[in-house]
Amino acid sequence: MDKDKSARKITVLPGDGIGPEVTREAVRVIKKTESIFGLSFEIREAAMGGNAIDAVGNPLPDETLQACRAGDAVLLGAIGGPKWDTTDPNKPRPEQGLLGLRKELELFANIRPVKIFEPLIDASALKREVIEGVDLVVVRELTGGLYFGASAREGDRAYDTLDYQAFEVERLMKVAFDLAGKRRRRVHSIDKANVLEASRLWREVAIATGEGYPDIELIHQLVDNTAMQLIRDPRQFDVIATGNMFGDILSDESSMISGSLGMLASASLGEADPALYEPIHGSAPDIAGQDKANPIATILSVAMMYRYSFDLARAGEAVEAAVDGVLASGYRTGDIMSEGCKLVGTQEMGDLICGALA
Ligand code: IPM
Ligand code: MG
Repeated sequence: MDKDKSARKITVLPGDGIGPEVTREAVRVIKKTESIFGLSFEIREAAMGGNAIDAVGNPLPDETLQACRAGDAVLLGAIGGPKWDTTDPNKPRPEQGLLGLRKELELFANIRPVKIFEPLIDASALKREVIEGVDLVVVRELTGGLYFGASAREGDRAYDTLDYQAFEVERLMKVAFDLAGKRRRRVHSIDKANVLEASRLWREVAIATGEGYPDIELIHQLVDNTAMQLIRDPRQFDVIATGNMFGDILSDESSMISGSLGMLASASLGEADPALYEPIHGSAPDIAGQDKANPIATILSVAMMYRYSFDLARAGEAVEAAVDGVLASGYRTGDIMSEGCKLVGTQEMGDLICGALA
C-alpha cells in the first residue's frame, strides 16, 4: 500500500444516533496517541447516512466520497435510525450511504475479530466454560452477493439476487487464508451448497484457492450448522470466511459470544487505501445523545486502523492495552455493566482510556 507517512489523512464519518458521541471519544484517543508516539494525523469530518439525507438529500454526498478517496483511512461511527426508516423503494435510506461507500472504495473484505475480554466473561449470555479462550475472526465478503445482485420491486413482487463471480470468492478466500496463516491455520468456509448454486461455486473456488495454501486446514460448513456451532462450541473456529449476507448474520451472532456488541471493532479492506474502520454495532437511537453509549468498539477500530492502514502496531497495541486496563479496573458503560463495577458514561470512558494511554 502507498502510504505518505508525513501526512496521514483520516476521514471521520460520525454518522447518526450514537455515532457522533463514540467517534468523538475515538478522535480524542487518536490525539492522545499523537502526543505519546509523536504521530501526526490530519482529521477531516464528512456527512454520511441519515444526517447527510437531512442536509443534502443524499446519504453519500459526492463531497464525502471525494474526501474519503483523498484520505488514507476512514473512521465511521454508525448510521441509521427510525427517522429514516421507510419501505418506500423511492426514498433514500442511510444504509445506502454505507453500501455505496463500500462499493465505491471496493472494500471487499470485512474483518470482524471476536475475542473474549476476560473481565467481561460473565457478561456473555453463554457459559464461561463455552467461551473461555475463544479467538475467532469473521472474514465477510462485502461488495457482492445478495446485497448487490439484481434487485427490484414490481408491483406485488420483489426480488434480490444472490450472485457471485469466481474472482470475488477467490480474492476473499485469499484474505481469509493469509489471515489464518498468521493465526491458528484453520479456515471454515461457510455456504449453503446443499441448496444454492452460488454456494456451490463458492465452495469450488474455496477449494481451488485453498490448494495454494497447503498448510492451512479448510473446512466447509453449511451456514445453518454454523449458526448452531457458534453457540455450541465457538472454540472450534479460527477464521470464518463467508459471503455478504451470511457474514452479516454470523458476525452479529459471534459478537454476542463476547458479551456485547459494544466491544467489537471491524476493518473493511480493499486492494488499495483507504480502508474503512467501524464498530460493528449500530446507531442505537434509543440512547443517542445521552452520554450512555460504549465508545470502546470505535476506539478499538482505531487500533485496527493503526495496524492495517498505518503499520503502527505499537500504537495499536497501546490502545488495546489501555482498554484492557480500564476494564480490569472495573469501569463499565451500561451495556457491559455488572455487579460491583463502576458505571461510567461515554465521555468518562473516553477520559479513562486516554488516561490509561498516558
Ligand atoms: C453491518 C450492518 C450493515 C450491513 C447495514 C447498516 C447496511 O448491519 O455492517 O453489519 O448490513 O452490512
Ligand atoms: Mg450487520
